[in-house]
Amino acid sequence: MHIEKLGLIGFKNYEDIDLDFSVKINCFVGPNGSGKTNLLDAIHYLSMTRSAFNLVDTQNILFGQNLFSIKGTLFKEGRRHEVLCAVSQGQKKIMRVDGNEHEKLSDHIGLFPVVLIAPDDTDIIRGPGEIRRKFFDMILSQLDRDYLQKLIRYNHFLKQRNTLLKQFSQGQAFEQDLLAPYNRELIVLGNELFGKRRDFMKEFLDTFHANYSWLSEEKEEVDIRYRSDNEIPDFESAFNNALSRDLALERTTIGIHRDDYKFLIRDSPLKKFGSQGQQKTFLIALKLTNFQVIREHLELVPILLLDDIFDKLDSHRIARLMQKVAENDFGQIFITDAREERTRSVLKELTLNAAFYTIDNGHVAPVENHV
Ligand SMILES: Nc1ncnc2c1ncn2[C@@H]1O[C@H](COP(=O)(O)OP(=O)(O)OP(=O)(O)O)[C@@H](O)[C@H]1O
Ligand SMILES: [Mg+2]
Repeated sequence: MHIEKLGLIGFKNYEDIDLDFSVKINCFVGPNGSGKTNLLDAIHYLSMTRSAFNLVDTQNILFGQNLFSIKGTLFKEGRRHEVLCAVSQGQKKIMRVDGNEHEKLSDHIGLFPVVLIAPDDTDIIRGPGEIRRKFFDMILSQLDRDYLQKLIRYNHFLKQRNTLLKQFSQGQAFEQDLLAPYNRELIVLGNELFGKRRDFMKEFLDTFHANYSWLSEEKEEVDIRYRSDNEIPDFESAFNNALSRDLALERTTIGIHRDDYKFLIRDSPLKKFGSQGQQKTFLIALKLTNFQVIREHLELVPILLLDDIFDKLDSHRIARLMQKVAENDFGQIFITDAREERTRSVLKELTLNAAFYTIDNGHVAPVENHV
């Protein structure tokens, strides 16, 4: 799959631009703050229906304007598709494929996969478990529609149950019967989602280990350990036994919404014991694995967005990464770099061709001579 054309109106620092892309490597170069990452974000919107950086849609409208639109011509399985994402102040977000609007935004997820690697975004390593859960949920949701629907339902029932717990603690007479349907749903759905997460992690880990070894040339031992309240054999009893605690804390204190994925280096927490370069390598290995599992399951090659990937990686790791993504089983790639010369020399070293675009304060100029 690849994107042939991108048209932006009023998106972040772009007033009105139209771009054509190469099917393989595209590089956006230009000074800090010029709008390189914003272009990747526009492509991210066409795939994921939202920004990778700013989740408040209206904040992505060009200052002083009322709406933005992102139009892309995407080529997939021998056919062209026009994908449109539009956001106006005070209105529902529009997501259309070939003129047809989706009933739900979530119906769009997985149709045009992209994988963004932004190695500065180490929240996934340093932040709370919720961020890691979201990362794996996002992948699973693209691979397995049933997973996504069940997760949406689980979160809905969780919210309802928590509201009830709050009402009980704020004076409403406690009625077990009111809770019972939510308990049942959360136990059944939770167990199904737990099984899917556990099975998926087994598959993910094999590829992840191979990727990390490839990037680091087998220098470090890393691991991901999935842990869940649902691991215990009689989860249902544990869930029911947690009721008094749930009532006291006014929320559901047990279940898959508390799952975490432990990132380890030599069996110790990566966020404490990994160097910056090791953390970035870990993050890149995670995202490459994300890319590969999507490719395998959807039989579709995602677009790869590499944001500032060359910072903080040593030249060996940069070369290993580029060697990998230039292989035929990777497709279209977008790279941003504030240092044009660095990207050019990396590509030259590996004798890779690329289209270059110079970005300057919301203006884009394709560079005629390719590397
Ligand atoms: N809603 C908006 N309206 C106008 N400009 C915006 C909006 N949101 C972000 N920007 C501008 O976009 C610019 C940042 O763009 P971007 O993050 O793409 O830069 P970059 O080229 O990737 O820079 P760096 O090299 O530092 O990563 C900033 O100048 C910011 O003010
Ligand atoms: Mg940037």
